[in-house]
Amino acid sequence: MPFYHKLGKIPPKRHTQFKKPDGTFYYEQLFGTIGFDGMSTNSYHEQRPTQVKDIKRQYSVAPKVAKANNMQSYRLHGFKVKPENDYLESRKIVLTNSDCNIILAAPKESTRDYFYKNTDADELIFIHKGTGKLRTMLGNLDFKYGDYLLVPRGIIYKLDFDTEDNRLFIVESYRPIYTPKRYRNWFGQLLEHSPFCERDLRQPQELETYNESGDFLIKIKKQDDIFDMVYASHPFDVVGYDGYNYPYAFSIHDFEPITGRVHQPPPVHQTFETDAFVVCSFVPRLYDYHPLAVPAPYNHSNIDSDEVLYYVDGDFMSRNDIDAGHISLHPAGIPHGPHPGAMERSIGKVKTDELAVMVDTFKPLKVTEEAMKIADEDYFKSWLE
Ligand SMILES: [Fe+2]
Repeated sequence: MPFYHKLGKIPPKRHTQFKKPDGTFYYEQLFGTIGFDGMSTNSYHEQRPTQVKDIKRQYSVAPKVAKANNMQSYRLHGFKVKPENDYLESRKIVLTNSDCNIILAAPKESTRDYFYKNTDADELIFIHKGTGKLRTMLGNLDFKYGDYLLVPRGIIYKLDFDTEDNRLFIVESYRPIYTPKRYRNWFGQLLEHSPFCERDLRQPQELETYNESGDFLIKIKKQDDIFDMVYASHPFDVVGYDGYNYPYAFSIHDFEPITGRVHQPPPVHQTFETDAFVVCSFVPRLYDYHPLAVPAPYNHSNIDSDEVLYYVDGDFMSRNDIDAGHISLHPAGIPHGPHPGAMERSIGKVKTDELAVMVDTFKPLKVTEEAMKIADEDYFKSWLE
């Protein structure tokens, strides 16, 4: 997060003595990223955060690749992913490369028996269906339909759902996820032309602190393995913290679209950036208003990026036969564009209600076995008249 946040109790000066009412010490932890060069947070714990009791199990959750080198456009039926009780088991990697995993999940139950920590990747969790609370060591965030939850790598968390009907679209990124640099000034403040501002980014305001000892299971992901590690103290024992590295939420409904007289390119929809992919939000907006405007996008050859669109809601004008929960994959190397009739259909239209999340990766994506289970194998022929 590119701006400073403070929550709970902290001492007036960093790296100084900070005592509890009984005279014993709180334990400071500096949580840095990119060595000591990236964003960091300084947190204060009831107990030492280093008390590993046991390492119970290590098991692989690496994606199984079905097509490593893919030139075929696909449609995936995301809602065909079966709901599963457990959050981690419900996460199905459908597309993958060395920079990111694109995941669909339909968890039915809140995480109760363990905490989760991803040491390799930032997680961007888009809430398509469901409401609840993201609980983290650095505070909680309520979530609902349309929220992006950004959990930086290493933040211990749980997800509490209000009901069993949940659908998540998750990007797990080995590269840090930021808001686009071009939206910010040299101090990091979001500029006037940015489609969102600081008021739209929700920081944790509720800190849960447990000073408890016992056996606390944290499932820790590192290099495609999960380590079941047992800690002697409750992972949510922070009494206060400050800094720049913490989870936050942003609703897609707070993204203010940028429109023009003629068709605007995808970068106007950009919401997040990494050096390996971008995330864009397509939201309800007025169409182009040149008298001869063609609201449908032109055919385009994304010669050096794979394009993934996750359809959330509304009628997606450029595609035929696309529904909520579908993913389209248009691979690098070949052009794609509106389906037959879509360009003509778009002329004269004033607005769109479409809602979609796009991920454009700079390295090609591999298609996994999980994706093949929900894939439409004939989609690549759908531009034929
Ligand atoms: Fe496209």
